[in-house]
Amino acid sequence: MKKTDTKSELAKTYGILIKNMGEGLCVLDKNFAPTFVNPKFCEIIGYSRDEILGKSAFQFVKGKSREILKKELEKRAKGESSRYTVKVRKKNGEEAFLLISGVSRFDKKGKFAGTIAIVSDITERKRLEKELEERTMELEKEVKKRTQLLVDLYRGVAVSEERSRLAQEIHDSLAQTLATSLCKTEMCEKLLGDNQLEARRELSELRKMLGRSVSSTRHVIFGLQFPNFHRAGFIAVLKQYFQEFERKSGISCDLKVKLERSLAVRTQVGIYQIIREAMNNVRKHATAKRVDLELRTDRDGNLHLIIEDNGKGFCLKKILARSKSAKRFGLKGMRERAKRLGGSFAVETARGQGTRIKVKVPLKKKEK
Ligand SMILES: Nc1ncnc2c1ncn2[C@@H]1O[C@H](COP(=O)(O)OP(=O)(O)OP(=O)(O)O)[C@@H](O)[C@H]1O
Ligand SMILES: [Mg+2]
Repeated sequence: MKKTDTKSELAKTYGILIKNMGEGLCVLDKNFAPTFVNPKFCEIIGYSRDEILGKSAFQFVKGKSREILKKELEKRAKGESSRYTVKVRKKNGEEAFLLISGVSRFDKKGKFAGTIAIVSDITERKRLEKELEERTMELEKEVKKRTQLLVDLYRGVAVSEERSRLAQEIHDSLAQTLATSLCKTEMCEKLLGDNQLEARRELSELRKMLGRSVSSTRHVIFGLQFPNFHRAGFIAVLKQYFQEFERKSGISCDLKVKLERSLAVRTQVGIYQIIREAMNNVRKHATAKRVDLELRTDRDGNLHLIIEDNGKGFCLKKILARSKSAKRFGLKGMRERAKRLGGSFAVETARGQGTRIKVKVPLKKKEK
């Protein structure tokens, strides 16, 4: 085959290819006016070949896309090729997104002669992307709503757990004391006639019992009042408590809180109650000038609480030996709360050496 034959054969083949290709093809001259478009390009943009050729490429492009096209064509004049997206208005008024891959053309002398661009209609893809984005946002909203529901539900569980603990406390301390007191009153009524001495002894015991009952009632009421951590935030509640404590007691407090993980509501409630109990003891017994509190999580997933005062301290052995008969609730309550959270409780103290309360609670993997 002759060389000219090969050339014309090739041109024919390219011609068929360009005519039938699934992408639009557009050739612009050096002034960026279309000089050739294939049928697919016309189909994409909705204008006929005659309506496109010789016009400015900018005429079909909308708003911000004009700026994009201008910048891209400037690149072409410098010989740079690129891929970009523009928004166009079709003849029927609809908008379409076009993905354009453009290269520069140069004449035989190497002078810029215009560009060739392959054009794909990505309107449907853009629509789907937008829809997906909207669906994702809707889904995220739904997830947030459900998470909130779960948090509220869990909060409810934590509160009802605290309620049943208080119910147990009321049963163990108040109800039992009151029932025994009632028996003793009945007994006294009977004894008053024939054994006044015995009646007096019973009455004195009854008085002591009722005294203890008054103090345990105060404890239960105290336990019933705890702030809404959920609304204010645990750390904010703590800070506020200590500000108030400083103001009322004149004892200066230093608070170091470093929590790398969020705490479950039941942990927050338990820790807060322990802190309050310990601080009550500082106020009532320590004659301290300052208190240092440290609350932090460690890398092994434990929560540490240390409350240290520089007050007079006490003999722990003696207090523990006496506490059964004296019916003191503070230290015992703190230990029980720490235990209920699956943790440990320790007191380090000696006369004249201040008191240090230490609590360690292992946190669950997902504290929520
Ligand atoms: N920080 C402290 N500094 C000095 N003494 C303390 C301190 N904490 C506790 N104590 C001593 O330990 C005792 C027991 O404390 P606990 O909190 O168990 O009972 P309470 O404070 O006496 O009574 P309750 O707490 O039931 O109102 C106190 O009476 C006090 O003598
Ligand atoms: Mg106490």
